[in-house]
Amino acid sequence: MRNCLVAQSGGPTVAINSSLAGVIQGAIDSKKFDKVYGSLNGVQGLLNGCLMDLTEKVEQVPMFIELLKKSPSMYLGSCRYQLPDYTEDDAPYAYIFNKFETYEIDAFFYIGGNDSMDTVDKLNTYAKAVGKDVKIVGIPKTIDNDIEGTEMSFGFQSAIDVATRTIDEIHTTAASHSRVFIVEIMGHKTGWLTLHSGIAGGADIILIPEIPYNVNEVLNTIKKREKQGKKFTIIAMAEGAISDEDAKLSKKELKEKRKTYIFPSVAYQLSDELQKKAGQEVRVTIPGHVQRGGIPSASDRTLATRIGVEAAGLILRKDYGNMVCIKEGKFSKIPLEEVAGKTKMVNVDNELIRQAESLGISLGRKA
Ligand code: F6P
Repeated sequence: MRNCLVAQSGGPTVAINSSLAGVIQGAIDSKKFDKVYGSLNGVQGLLNGCLMDLTEKVEQVPMFIELLKKSPSMYLGSCRYQLPDYTEDDAPYAYIFNKFETYEIDAFFYIGGNDSMDTVDKLNTYAKAVGKDVKIVGIPKTIDNDIEGTEMSFGFQSAIDVATRTIDEIHTTAASHSRVFIVEIMGHKTGWLTLHSGIAGGADIILIPEIPYNVNEVLNTIKKREKQGKKFTIIAMAEGAISDEDAKLSKKELKEKRKTYIFPSVAYQLSDELQKKAGQEVRVTIPGHVQRGGIPSASDRTLATRIGVEAAGLILRKDYGNMVCIKEGKFSKIPLEEVAGKTKMVNVDNELIRQAESLGISLGRKA
C-alpha cells in the first residue's frame, strides 16, 4: 500500500471542506492507502514541503470528519499558483514528483477551479511524458460554475443565495428613494451567478459578459419602468459584463481603452454613464467576497461530499487523469485534457435567457 495526497486551490467556497471530508473518508474506506496527506496551500505546499498527515488527524480526533464538514474556509488553505509549461521549465515538476516519491504518493486529488484543473492536467501530462505512475484526479469547485465539462460545481448554489439576498435587500432603499441600483456580482468572465441570482432576486435588468449590453437600451428600460410608475430599477451586473461598444474592440484596443478608465469596476463605470443620462440617482452595491462566505446551501454540502467520495471511487476503478463531473444530472468523469484551458460560458440560447426575457427582464440587448 502507498499513500495519497489531497489539496485545495483557487477561490474558496463555503462548501469546500465537505469535498475534502469526502475524499479523506473515501480514501480511508477504500483501504487502498496507508496514509492520506494534505498539502498546505495547494501545490505550493508540495513546493515548500508543507504536507500534513490527515490520517493521523482522523485517528486522534474522532469527530475530525464531522467537524471538518462544518468548518468554514479552506482547511488546507489555498493558492493561485500556475505551473509553467513543462517543456519550457520542468524544474517545479521534477521537484513535485520528487516529493511524491519521498512521501510515497500514489494518487493526487486536487480540488479547485479552472486554473486548478489546468494544474492537474499539466501534472498528468508530465507524468505520462516521463513515465511516472501517479494517479491524478480533479475535483471541480467554483462559485462561478464556469468549469468546462460539468453541469454544476459546488459552491455555486451557496453563492447564488448570497447574491440573491443582496438583490432582495437592496429593494428597500431602491424603492424608498426611487433609485437605480447596480448590484455587481462575481463570476469572473461568465454570467452564471448573475443570471441565476438576478432572476431569483427579481432584478429588472441583468447584464452578463456573454451578451454585451447597450447603454441606451439599459436607459430605455429604466425610462419605460418610470413611465409605468415603477420608480426604481435594479440592475444585476456581472463583474465581467461588457458594453456592445467595447465588445467590438480587439483585445489590444480594449486593453488600451481600459487603461483610461478611472472607475474601480464595471458597475461604477456604468453608474457614471447612467447618472449623467438617467435623471435618477444611481448607486452601486458590491457584495464582493461575501459571495464566497456564509452558510453553505444544503445542496452544495451534499454535492461537495458526494463529489469527494466519487473522486476516491475513480482511483479505485483505475480511472486516472479525469475530473469528476455532473453530466445530465448524474456523476460521471471527463478527461482532464478536455477541461483544461476552457471556460464554460452561458450559451446565448440557454433557456434561462429566454425565460428571463419572457418575464420582462431586460438583458440590455437591443430589441
Ligand atoms: O473564485 C472565483 C472568483 O470568486 C471570481 O468570481 C472572482 O473574479 C475571483 O474569484 C476573485 O478572486 P480574488 O479573491 O483572488 O480576487
